[in-house]
Amino acid sequence: MISKNIEQALNDQIRLEGNASYLYLAMAAWCDAKGLEGCKNFLMQQSDEERFHMIKIVNYLSEVDGRAISPGIDQPQKDFESVGKLFEMLYEHEQKVTQSIHELVDLAYKEKDYTTLNFLQWYVEEQREEEDLARTILDKINLIGDSPQSLYFIDLELQKLCGSSSEE
Ligand code: FEO
Repeated sequence: MISKNIEQALNDQIRLEGNASYLYLAMAAWCDAKGLEGCKNFLMQQSDEERFHMIKIVNYLSEVDGRAISPGIDQPQKDFESVGKLFEMLYEHEQKVTQSIHELVDLAYKEKDYTTLNFLQWYVEEQREEEDLARTILDKINLIGDSPQSLYFIDLELQKLCGSSSEE
């Protein structure tokens, strides 16, 4: 059995992961419209991962006799200033998710809910990897630049990163 507080916080996290999934889908669509196939493929993969993160919490709540709520979809931003700004935004979003996971860990710890605490460890590790990946991309963009001439090379680099993030 799970406390109402933790159930609510996990449902908030479901919403955050769902919003991330739709934001990355919007980013993928923008890249597709710009002819950036590698960026699109990478962002589609990230969008799928965020959905997986959301479903994992839905399943957990079911296992601990909690109630998962399917979140409404907020309209994500659909236009982006540049590829560089888009990935800065992705990195900021990942930092926000990390902060939220850490607050959840804090709550589970305070409530002595060791089952949820254990469940959340996977997310702590996943966020470390996702932030690292986002920083790697920003480093590459900073090296190459995101002028129109550089976009071809950024796109190749993003295609290479497809399949490099975890989903277990
Ligand atoms: Fe599920 Fe990238 O946060």
